[in-house]
Amino acid sequence: MVYAALERSMRARLGRECLYVPSCRLGLYVALRHFCPPGGRVLMSPVNDDVIFFVVLAAGLRPVQAPLRPHDATIDAAAVPEDVWRGLSAVLTTNLYGNPDPAPQLAARCAESGIALLEDAAHAIGSEIGGRPVGTYGDASVFSLSKHTGAKAGGFLAVRDPALRAGLERARDALLRPARAGAELAYALRPSAEAAVRGLRLAGAARAAMRLLGAVERQEIRMPLRPGGLKAATARAPALGPFHPWVRVDMHDYRLTPGRVRLRRTERLLGRLGTTLAAHRAGTEKLLATPWALATGPVQPLFRVPLLVADRDAAIAALARARVTTGYLYDPPLDDYAGAPFTDVSPAPEAARWFARHALPADPLRADVTLGVLRASGARPAPPYGD
Ligand SMILES: Cc1ncc(COP(=O)(O)O)c(C=O)c1O
Repeated sequence: MVYAALERSMRARLGRECLYVPSCRLGLYVALRHFCPPGGRVLMSPVNDDVIFFVVLAAGLRPVQAPLRPHDATIDAAAVPEDVWRGLSAVLTTNLYGNPDPAPQLAARCAESGIALLEDAAHAIGSEIGGRPVGTYGDASVFSLSKHTGAKAGGFLAVRDPALRAGLERARDALLRPARAGAELAYALRPSAEAAVRGLRLAGAARAAMRLLGAVERQEIRMPLRPGGLKAATARAPALGPFHPWVRVDMHDYRLTPGRVRLRRTERLLGRLGTTLAAHRAGTEKLLATPWALATGPVQPLFRVPLLVADRDAAIAALARARVTTGYLYDPPLDDYAGAPFTDVSPAPEAARWFARHALPADPLRADVTLGVLRASGARPAPPYGD
């Protein structure tokens, strides 16, 4: 089987049955459809990629926004009201930038309530909590090989119960679109195209090229909601097709059967994951030892380190002048972005707003240049939460 080597390698990391998926978002859709009845309610973090929000809607589910802890945007399980718990079908963690949500507590609470815990470990492939990898607490977890691994394609759906594999594999295969030679060629050429335009220092041209590949589509942090179209799509859920314009953002190949080039590159990059994670951990350590870092706990190989700065947009502009691009911003929180027609709003939205406004997701692989720019530009740490 073509995915066997990749799945073996991930199974060895995680100790769980792993199914290859062409993107984390597709894996999440498969998991949500399997574990939640249509019309179910899913507790999730409002500081999250909007793609994930649209995947929940596509699965025919109602997003319910959770209260967060201000310094790392993890779910504040104790602040979720009892009546909210009673109406849920599942909890979906985010593990934002690699900072683990409180999976042991959430797993215990979900078991008590008889609902599923699903872990989005897209940012957290090397993170641990309670001495175990993120992604080993839930009924299912999803990983993205576009993040730390850098494959820009692929992911895994991992499950606690290996007996579920055959059914989930059938569900995945039913959603896959046939491989396209053009898409595979674009994928093969992408690293050299990116390097070439970067080498020429043509930032504008690079963005245009990436846009052509469907890799950069947003003009703003959040994609346009288009509420009219979204409402019509929601009436047709559960189904991925009607949500295509929202779910495909930044990755038009999200449900494409991968070709040989993609799988070989992914295998090579996944084989190097240990070295990659060591570099992320070293950069994280540097970034956490600065006045802009507020998160505490053991150093993890974070995907991004959320530095909390007073004027986030000025810091982004200063970094851009030094050719450091800032991505993975999730501002405003999803309940402010989409509103009550599409989601239950958080009962305590302030911490999420504060975090979303101040968080500067710093790439640990560029820790030195990032810190140099922040120091030189006089970036001030965010004022304490609640001031
Ligand atoms: C938190 C989170 N989960 C899931 C995804 C989806 O990953 P993929 O692009 O592999 O579908 C993303 C994408 O950026 C993400 O930020």
